[in-house]
Amino acid sequence: MRIPERVVIRYLGSVPNGWTEVFQNHSLQLGAAPDVPALIKACDDGARAIIVPFQNSQNSASQRDFVKINNAIGEHAANRGTLVIVAVANTAMLRNDLLWLTTATTDTNAREENYVRPYIKELDSPHPAAELAELCRRHHPGPQLNKNTAFKRKGMRTIPIPGETLLSRAFLDYSKLTVSPLHGGRSIAKDVWHVTARDGNRFAATPFVVKMGPLEIVETELNNFEDMIMDSVPFPYRPPTIKDRCVSGKTQRLLVTKFIADAVELEDYILKTEPTAAVNLLFDGPLSNWRKQSRPERMQLALEYAKHWVLPSLPADLANLNAAFLGAQRIVKDILDPSAMLKALNGLPKTRVRACRAHGDLHLRNIFVRQFSGEAMLIDFARCTGQAPSTFDPSTLDVALAFDLPSGQPNFTLEALGRLYSVPLLGTKHLVSGRYKHRLAAIKQVRKRAAELVVDTREYDISVACRLLWFSRKFKNPTTYFCANRIVKDLTKK
Ligand SMILES: Nc1ncnc2c1ncn2[C@@H]1O[C@H](COP(=O)(O)OP(=O)(O)OP(=O)(O)O)[C@@H](O)[C@H]1O
Ligand SMILES: [Mg+2]
Repeated sequence: MRIPERVVIRYLGSVPNGWTEVFQNHSLQLGAAPDVPALIKACDDGARAIIVPFQNSQNSASQRDFVKINNAIGEHAANRGTLVIVAVANTAMLRNDLLWLTTATTDTNAREENYVRPYIKELDSPHPAAELAELCRRHHPGPQLNKNTAFKRKGMRTIPIPGETLLSRAFLDYSKLTVSPLHGGRSIAKDVWHVTARDGNRFAATPFVVKMGPLEIVETELNNFEDMIMDSVPFPYRPPTIKDRCVSGKTQRLLVTKFIADAVELEDYILKTEPTAAVNLLFDGPLSNWRKQSRPERMQLALEYAKHWVLPSLPADLANLNAAFLGAQRIVKDILDPSAMLKALNGLPKTRVRACRAHGDLHLRNIFVRQFSGEAMLIDFARCTGQAPSTFDPSTLDVALAFDLPSGQPNFTLEALGRLYSVPLLGTKHLVSGRYKHRLAAIKQVRKRAAELVVDTREYDISVACRLLWFSRKFKNPTTYFCANRIVKDLTKK
């Protein structure tokens, strides 16, 4: 999308003499807005910035007015990408007025440049207008609102606020959007939608996926994509992110990618299809470049996994293992409690590993398989990380294959799990097949491919134990705790 420039600036009240020309020199059109409704309309019409002069805070009525203005336009403007500048006449200010103004306009949930903030300007500065114009120029408003967007919702009654506003900006170049929910995710970014867009000539774009979430969370995923995916995961194996459409509001931001057509999540693929070839194509496709560039390192793995939030790093997180521990005690009496478990893992010596980038959340709904070729594609780079043990991703997938089952499906038997999770995990195992033969075949192949970069087989055992504990913590699962306990006890025995 080519984003049209936003050049209009609106000033509450009369524009001071000479300012319009100064703004013109910055290629901006400054004009007056008589009142707050006019400012609100200016935001809807795509103003780049609005300027609210703040003069006499000595007068409490004026403070109240200001708070009213702030409440009326702050969020409205931020969700439309319009910068709000409070221009303060410094000579009229006392120190505590400045403090009051800063408090009244600060919102820690919002990105600073998208929220009302005081722009403190000394009246006797030689170029106040030029400085304000420069401030407006430096602001990146993103696309403006498309007031003509028609929404069609499928499978959802409403689009959560500020979804419609942000979507209409993200797809400014289309007039009709059809939005339906996508399920599968379990993270904080709960609003994930399939979006089709048509323009006035009824031309339909190929479908998009839009995820709406808190500013910082979406920004992290976007940065991960730019820093760790775009240039390093081979092109056809991940959907592109369309940065210009990733618009920000006051507290929420959109992440816009392309929908992967003709593919199914590995979770569904594996129900009907033998997955060995797909697992191979996962290692030979999306993961290949990272793994090709692995480097030898020595790592204290428990420490490393605490850094990546797989193991608890805070005492409060440790308590989250209690439910799983108590449940596991019902399976077998003699079991390490959470702090003994962590102590045992932390007490293990450094392990020789190969380190490479990792997806960080490689479960079966973050891998898509193309139905005809069996090729694998990755999505969801929120937890992507730099140098990590090469077994980080394989061990995550290993545990997901054994435990992250579609709801309503019975678990693996304890006997099968006992066999699956006995050290060394990379040793040959007779895996009983039956109901889960495809999942077991996938685990077998994941381990075979993981072994290619493993220098010391204990690395895989420890990585899996850590991921089992992550699962125990997140889903209060006693069986994963039981399996982790077996591995950790065996590792510390030797
Ligand atoms: N590019 C895409 N093409 C097709 N479907 C997608 C795409 N991106 C996301 N989805 C669907 O939306 C779901 C949620 O997306 P995503 O995994 O990015 O969100 P999440 O909430 O972070 O999930 P998680 O539980 O993995 O943290 C996916 O499991 C998948 O079903
Ligand atoms: Mg996901």
